[in-house]
Amino acid sequence: MYKFKLKALDKEVLINGDKSILEVFNEEDMAIYAPCGGKGTCGKCKVKVSGKVNSLTDEERKLLTSQEIGNGIRLACKTYAEGEIAVQLVEDKLVNDAKGKLRSEMYYGADPLIYRRTEKLTAPTLESGETVIDTVREAIGDLELDLNIIREISHKIDYTEEGSFVVYDNKVIDMAFGKRNNRLYGIAVDIGTTTVVCYLMDMLQGKQIGVSSMQNPQVGYGADVISRILYTIEDPGGLKILRSRIIKGIDLLIREVCEKTAVHKQDIYMGVFVGNTTMAHLFWGFNCSSLSRLPFNAVTQDMIVESSRNIGIQNMNQNGRIVFLPGIAGFVGADTVGAMIAAELINCSENSLLVDLGTNGEIVLSTPKGRYACSTAAGPAFEGARIKYGMQAFPGAIDHAAVADDIEISTIENQPAKGICGSGLIDIVSVLLEAGVISEDGKIAEPEGQRNKKLAERIVKSGKTKEFLIVNGSHENNLSRITLTQKDIRELQLAKGAIRAGIDILLNVSGLTVDNVDRLLLAGAFGNFINKESALRIGLFPELHPDKIIPLGNAAGEGAKKALCSRIILRETAQHYARTTKHIEISSHPDFEKAFMEGMYFR
Ligand code: FES
Repeated sequence: MYKFKLKALDKEVLINGDKSILEVFNEEDMAIYAPCGGKGTCGKCKVKVSGKVNSLTDEERKLLTSQEIGNGIRLACKTYAEGEIAVQLVEDKLVNDAKGKLRSEMYYGADPLIYRRTEKLTAPTLESGETVIDTVREAIGDLELDLNIIREISHKIDYTEEGSFVVYDNKVIDMAFGKRNNRLYGIAVDIGTTTVVCYLMDMLQGKQIGVSSMQNPQVGYGADVISRILYTIEDPGGLKILRSRIIKGIDLLIREVCEKTAVHKQDIYMGVFVGNTTMAHLFWGFNCSSLSRLPFNAVTQDMIVESSRNIGIQNMNQNGRIVFLPGIAGFVGADTVGAMIAAELINCSENSLLVDLGTNGEIVLSTPKGRYACSTAAGPAFEGARIKYGMQAFPGAIDHAAVADDIEISTIENQPAKGICGSGLIDIVSVLLEAGVISEDGKIAEPEGQRNKKLAERIVKSGKTKEFLIVNGSHENNLSRITLTQKDIRELQLAKGAIRAGIDILLNVSGLTVDNVDRLLLAGAFGNFINKESALRIGLFPELHPDKIIPLGNAAGEGAKKALCSRIILRETAQHYARTTKHIEISSHPDFEKAFMEGMYFR
């Protein structure tokens, strides 16, 4: 057994050498960002290690620079202890740290399916011959009382004090006498493949009072849904591990938001959750194997209601209820229904495209005659995975670019550039297309013949291909070297090709053309940061006027909040979207291949 020091947390654990550093972190419930799930192909799980470890592997020689190797950087998934070691996180961030920049100022309705009712009970008399429960029913009417509540009432009944009953959908789920407590809180949780967000809502006022977020603690098992599905199939304990990670993560988020707002967890009685089909399966512990093969059918897409006690969420009232919104079909799940709620597509006279550019790309086409939805395997390129210097939208990520005399970049929080996030990637490719450095088919041009000499000097050879030098890092200037490689451009083309294929096929199926599209609603926090002109320039979206592109922020989370605060939205609107939206499985659609190939061109 070796001592393993986690410098970031000031923590020590004992391990034996048969587990990689990534596995040790996962077991300690601290996920390192590991998009390839530990296969040694993404190069993102970098940590700084000191002490005795195995020698560098071939994968590490390929993915780490000599500067990084000299600084003791290793890939967590390929490094094993051979003695006492100390590990430091390169990003100073575990993925369960919060990531901000989410909208929070709206007010919502206040007609939730859950409410409090205060009544003074009349004590039974000799003449009335009433039971305890008769006296309760006299006050609260025909509400359902199950055995647990009857048992609780039998212990707590007090005819001298007012009773406060918490009612969920005609059923009493909690009660107390005396100490007047009028508080009633709920949580809306968006379980994204990459990010999980928890909103704390005052349900009496329909108002958001706090938010906490973290990266999905399952990212240590792969960035995309397919890696996680495969993990549950290939590892007998995989499903249990992934389920427990998300439940614990949500509990952590609730604790965090309660601490920030001084709300007591016992006053949180309801949660509305959204997530894609895979996230829902992992949350409920459903077998995911049917999601790995055609026809990609889910175990269920129904709305599910369960008590927090039975789910194992501890940081809320144990009699509270969690509702997972219904999904549509295939990989189009409750998060899309949430986004449709936020976009208010019912009774809308316009033709709207709703595009969620998350780790998966979900697309809805809503017309006055009907709604169609599909999911595309866009992959996590917009979140930095599979991009050589890609990273998520953390401080130091290049988020925008322009070309004047030379390439100019900006970074999040103006910190020294460490990598490229999604909006930066789109901007860089867009300006290089405009400058003629990248061609329509995605190839980096030869430096000779370039009209801008400074850009030409940045086109450098890398093995058999070329790359574009964005930041020329060195020991002297203490900057990281950051390039855009030919393979990065290819990854962006694949992601964009999938999104465009989805949009084109939905338009085709509905008999519309792009000229009939009145607005394109961009869901996902990423949409707030994207430069619309750049997105149009690379052809991520069809040719529309930029004013028709409207970012919605985290629409799935907004939809969950609305459903939490309104019984009509929860019971009727969500079900309406889930039942009436026609799912189109685009991967087997006859037009898919052609649309995908076309969509890969930058035009
Ligand atoms: S290289 Fe280690 S997780 Fe991808």
